Amino acid sequence: MTAVSLESFLDQLRQFHADASTALDAAADAAAFEAARVEFLGARSGRLKAIQKQLGGLAAADKPAAGRHFNEAKAAVEALLAAAQERVGTAAAAGAEAIDVTLPGTPVPRGHVHPITQTIRRVQEIMGRLGFESVDGPEVEDQWHNFEALAIGAEHPARDPLDNFYLAVARGADPLLLRSQTSTVQIRVMEARRPPLRIVSLGRVYRPDTADATHYPMFHQVEGLLVEPGTTMAHLKSVLRLFASSFLGGDVHVRFRPSFFPFTEPSVEVDMEWGGRWIEMGGAGMVDPAVLEAVGYDPREVSGFAFGLGVERIAARRYGVADIRDFYRNDVRFLQQF
Ligand code: FA5
Repeated sequence: MTAVSLESFLDQLRQFHADASTALDAAADAAAFEAARVEFLGARSGRLKAIQKQLGGLAAADKPAAGRHFNEAKAAVEALLAAAQERVGTAAAAGAEAIDVTLPGTPVPRGHVHPITQTIRRVQEIMGRLGFESVDGPEVEDQWHNFEALAIGAEHPARDPLDNFYLAVARGADPLLLRSQTSTVQIRVMEARRPPLRIVSLGRVYRPDTADATHYPMFHQVEGLLVEPGTTMAHLKSVLRLFASSFLGGDVHVRFRPSFFPFTEPSVEVDMEWGGRWIEMGGAGMVDPAVLEAVGYDPREVSGFAFGLGVERIAARRYGVADIRDFYRNDVRFLQQF
């Protein structure tokens, strides 16, 4: 073993400490920190290891002092290393959270409101401007509100189990059903309030219809009801035309065709012409005096009109959708167009 003087040994320790301090101060990231750690304290070929090997070459009398200085230098550099590791680790964590606004972005598509919900909100907004308050009614109905109060008697074919979704109930009880029309809400509102009334109600209705381009077993209706003294068919047509031209935009014609509903007299089918095509939108009429009487109104004092339109049909017309089933296929490529 080569003889080593205490002075040279202590010089090497001082140099080791100074170099380690410079390198660790400069280490800005994890890679630089690791390189400095290996260079100075690496277990196999680190600089401290090389200095340690020289301990054996010192005179026996110098060894205790040399050992003490060695341990002090080692502890000092280990402390520098720990501080540098902490600093580099914190910077890395901060870097992970920071957003570099100069990097090119990856757009994340946001969801949006379904076209039928958009349509419902738009109808509520337009009818609101015409003075019609939005009200809700239950989707599970009793037979009084879905049929009887609307003059659809016990023998009427519209009550056929094949045309309705009746719910199973205890034997002997009057079966409830999923409402087949929003006209139920007319009755509920008239039972609860006195005229004058201007309400609109939008919601789901259910019929066991076979799905095709214009039918779906669950669909939405918009029901309008106005009851005031002196109401006539002319008011009905004006409101529908105002609604149609606000909703579709531009020049819209409204046409009435004679029809029959048990709860309106006279009754009409409502067609709208827009962009050169006539489309059936729903049914309407003057509220039958017998219905007004059944809810406690005096038909000599007030008259009213009511209408019920298919929301999917008017949405399809507005957006140029050829098949209303597309609204419910949940195909994102279709839905994201709206
Ligand atoms: C009625 O439901 C009446 N309650 C409308 C009414 C209200 C008349 C107030 C008078 C006074 P109708 O069964 O025709 O009427 O349905 C009205 C509209 O709902 C239809 O014109 C159509 O636009 C829509 N509709 C009917 N069945 C379906 C279905 N299976 N899928 C999608 N839309 C439908």
